[in-house]
Amino acid sequence: MSFAPLQNDTFLRACLRQATDHTPMWLMRQAGRYLPEYCATRAKAGSFMGLATNVDYATEVTLQPLERYPLDAAILFSDILTVPDAMGLGLTFAAGEGPKFAKNVRDEAAVDALAVPDMAKLRYVFDAVTSIRKALNGRVPLIGFSGSPWTLACYMVEGGGSDDYRAVKTLMYSRPDLMHRILAINADAVAQYLNTQIDAGAQAVMVFDSWGGVLADGNFQAFSMAYTRRVLDQLKTEKDGQRIPSIVFTKGGGLWLNEMNTLPCDVLGVDWTVNLARARSLVGGDVGGPGKALQGNLDPNVLFASAAQIEAEATRVLDSFGIPHTDRSTTGPTHIFNLGHGISQYTPPDSVSALVAAVHSHSRRMRAQG
Ligand code: CP3
Repeated sequence: MSFAPLQNDTFLRACLRQATDHTPMWLMRQAGRYLPEYCATRAKAGSFMGLATNVDYATEVTLQPLERYPLDAAILFSDILTVPDAMGLGLTFAAGEGPKFAKNVRDEAAVDALAVPDMAKLRYVFDAVTSIRKALNGRVPLIGFSGSPWTLACYMVEGGGSDDYRAVKTLMYSRPDLMHRILAINADAVAQYLNTQIDAGAQAVMVFDSWGGVLADGNFQAFSMAYTRRVLDQLKTEKDGQRIPSIVFTKGGGLWLNEMNTLPCDVLGVDWTVNLARARSLVGGDVGGPGKALQGNLDPNVLFASAAQIEAEATRVLDSFGIPHTDRSTTGPTHIFNLGHGISQYTPPDSVSALVAAVHSHSRRMRAQG
């Protein structure tokens, strides 16, 4: 398989701690319900899974935000819950209600029945990756993704979303042996899933540990981070001579950055509770030495304020990281601008235009002043 050469490599360069002329940006959930054109395609598809399993629709909605905004990366349109669905749990999204599984995993018999799914069941995802990569035609790189083993386990044990994580924490505290078995299977499934996305054309991969932050200190390390590490240890880091960077985002994980710095990934994503200057000093590394790139961390609710306020808040985030590394002959601390979590479905699309313009122009200005 050969694809068109990349025209905008700022995102991949920043992932690898290489200098760029501006701070690259993309938004978690950038393809979604805040865009009227997404809602129109989803209505044609009939359901979320109808949309995600149709290669042409998945390609169309992945490109929609790029038609509107000069973003520096595309992210595969899919969902983290495709993996437990392929394990036979039966995923549906009732309109306005969030995800639901027909079966949950709460006892020994259910864990005994669990296995790494045949990747052929996820063929629609890999076909979408290849189709999107072709449609992008080298415009920007394509990010593939998966849920973390722990975050997937939350949905599998709860049977859907949860406010209090009661079922998954009950299992973790009462039968840690079963919890570890689920997490080991999830880690191996996620590793195969991401490696197959890389083979299909994904140019970077991201692990969403959306619920790592609900764990107690000690349990985060044992039940979330250890299994994210098990995924990363199995990932391909190169394809056709190109480095494939990996990103780990733990929502609410800011207190564990020192420990996450030991993960074999390139980028750490952080939410809005994190001070980027402090994060940079903890994990950003020195010029020429090892370190992690940082991704984040604007509060998505800033996008409900005025264009002037959006610009001010975006500037604050960029300034808190400080002037990124600029010497093209070596590596150093870099920043990828993003939100601290997914964009809200109620976001006015014009707010995103204001944000992208502010990030690109202010981040250029900062480099000129440095
Ligand atoms: O970022 C992107 O544009 C790519 C697509 C993407 C989706 N889900 C599409 C989606 C990505 C990266 C995800 C990841 C995902 N899915 C996560 C991790 C990131 C996070 O937000 O913490 C999680 C926890 C899920 C699980 C999930 N999927 C939930 C809880 C829901 C329902 C809540 C909601 O926002 O509606 C979904 C459905 C979903 N996945 C939608 C989209 C665009 C909306 C559903 C629809 O169109 O009906």
